[in-house]
Amino acid sequence: MKIAIAADHGGYALKEQIKIWLAEQGHEAVDFGCASPESVDYPDYAVTVAREVGEGRFPLGILVCGTGIGMSITANKVAGVRAALCNDTYCAEHARKHNDANIMAIGGRVVAPETALEIVKTFITSQFEGGRHQRRVDRIKQIENEWGNR
Ligand code: RB5
Repeated sequence: MKIAIAADHGGYALKEQIKIWLAEQGHEAVDFGCASPESVDYPDYAVTVAREVGEGRFPLGILVCGTGIGMSITANKVAGVRAALCNDTYCAEHARKHNDANIMAIGGRVVAPETALEIVKTFITSQFEGGRHQRRVDRIKQIENEWGNR
């Protein structure tokens, strides 16, 4: 699978580990930065991956910052993005199954690397269940269309 990935300095080390793991699993991870642990501003990285996913060039994205919170807040400003903060496997599974999330955000200062890889694995292997959840995701899209540009 093609996956867009980015981090700020708080998530840089974990991003590098996730990239290695994704490559080992045969996925194509495209890295949109940052390129070192030097301090940067997370919104710039979040919006880049969010555009790649929201405009349909990647089916899924992964964003890593200190907590995952800033990345998820920013990514959800972009049309077509459903970014979920996934600092545990339960949320990663249900973000896909119930919310059809297309970006997961994770906290490099919150989750241990081994757990983080389990979370990524859960997110990318879980499938949207549709059914009653489709109606709710459609409602999110309606709200985005109605309120997005105000
Ligand atoms: C950077 O210090 C930190 O604020 C950032 O990585 C993230 O946790 C923001 O939500």
